[in-house]
Amino acid sequence: MSLEIRQITEDEVEAAEFITAYSFNSTERRDLTKAVERSKQFYPAGWSLASFEDGEMTAFVRTIPFAARINGHGLSYGAVGPVVSLPQHRRKGHVGAILRRALENMRDNGQVWSGLHTPHPTLYQRYGWEIASLSRTFKFPPKEIQLKAEPKERGYIRMLKADDWAQADRIYRVHSAKRNGPLHRGEIWWREAIFGSGFAPDPSDVALWEDASGEPRGYAVYVQATRADADMPRFWVREIVALTTDAYLNLLLYILRHDLPSEIAINAAPDDPFYSLVDDARHVKVEEHYDLMNRIVDVEAALKLRPPANPELEVDFTMEITDRTAPWNEATWRVRQAGGEVQVEKTNQQADLSLSSTTLAPLYNGFLSASAAAFAGRVRAESERSLVEADAFFSTLYPPFCADGF
Ligand SMILES: CC(C)(COP(=O)(O)OP(=O)(O)OC[C@H]1O[C@@H](n2cnc3c(N)ncnc32)[C@H](O)[C@@H]1OP(=O)(O)O)[C@@H](O)C(=O)NCCC(=O)NCCS
Repeated sequence: MSLEIRQITEDEVEAAEFITAYSFNSTERRDLTKAVERSKQFYPAGWSLASFEDGEMTAFVRTIPFAARINGHGLSYGAVGPVVSLPQHRRKGHVGAILRRALENMRDNGQVWSGLHTPHPTLYQRYGWEIASLSRTFKFPPKEIQLKAEPKERGYIRMLKADDWAQADRIYRVHSAKRNGPLHRGEIWWREAIFGSGFAPDPSDVALWEDASGEPRGYAVYVQATRADADMPRFWVREIVALTTDAYLNLLLYILRHDLPSEIAINAAPDDPFYSLVDDARHVKVEEHYDLMNRIVDVEAALKLRPPANPELEVDFTMEITDRTAPWNEATWRVRQAGGEVQVEKTNQQADLSLSSTTLAPLYNGFLSASAAAFAGRVRAESERSLVEADAFFSTLYPPFCADGF
């Protein structure tokens, strides 16, 4: 029996889309025409990898090249999804083999880090991905909610269409500039994943808020589902992006005035102040679950490229990284920060800290501090000083959050 891992060809798109549609039990599996068309239009074959057993495609993985922001810069990021295999070929190691190759490809392509969403965290932990952000949802009956603050002006709400995507993008870019985790969205992503249905059952509505002088200052993306779906709220706010307090309050009030749904769900970043704004918080349910799993693909490059949150700090520590599935990361690395510059090099010095690259992923984006990881037994530290230095080095300007599904 032969196993081959390679990119798919145009002729093989249908087989890959079948594995995807079947695995996620999508209705498209009965007629793949649209899925194939979408795939050919939006996803170059070079982003795909599949396994072939004796010539038959058995599993398929796509890595979309994005940049994800951290501390003021976007760093090249491989967004992995879908990951699927045919049931008759599962538990044979085919997906594992593809993920290993995907890591090599990402490194060669300069994608220094990677992320994915999954219901199977233990699978990906084997290959170095680790939980690195939380998703928070506020759920409430809109009629019960009063806000403690009022906007100074009412401004205007204008509905955007997909062709207006650049208006939302201008706001998104300003809002994302220093945040931690937002992806650089291109036109196709805006049209397909934001204005289109993306992972929601229905297309999204996008409402733009302009101040009295006509300046756009924020927008909300929300879905009013027409079909009942146990996994999806009927009125679901995917994101509120506001550059000013007035934009935030007006967009919230606009959402709250949708008073027919019995419940509205708002997806929010961990630092979203909604909870503190609600008059009677008993009416608000807060749900939290793990969101992105991240992976540091190329430790040396990822550390060198990561902009410091506090450039004025001086930091010097060594850390030994173990990495079974990306062995190029295995070394003791000396990390220095001085004068705003970061230097990273291999060293023969004794390591201050010892950890796996799996543990490094949530440290890297500030989801977990080095001290907390050591307390949890996931980092071995030779000294308190090295933990303090690592905490300072890995600090971020914002908590991690990415509103995009992929
Ligand atoms: C999840 C899925 C992709 C796994 O594919 P697979 O072909 O069985 O994976 P592999 O055989 O290559 O397994 C690789 C490793 O992960 C482990 N693994 C596989 N499925 C797992 C799961 N659901 N949970 C935890 N570990 C899992 C395997 O035991 C194996 O580990 P080992 O090498 O130590 O034995 C496949 O079951 C599938 O397509 N499911 C439906 C769609 C889906 O859930 N996709 C993932 C969305 S993120």
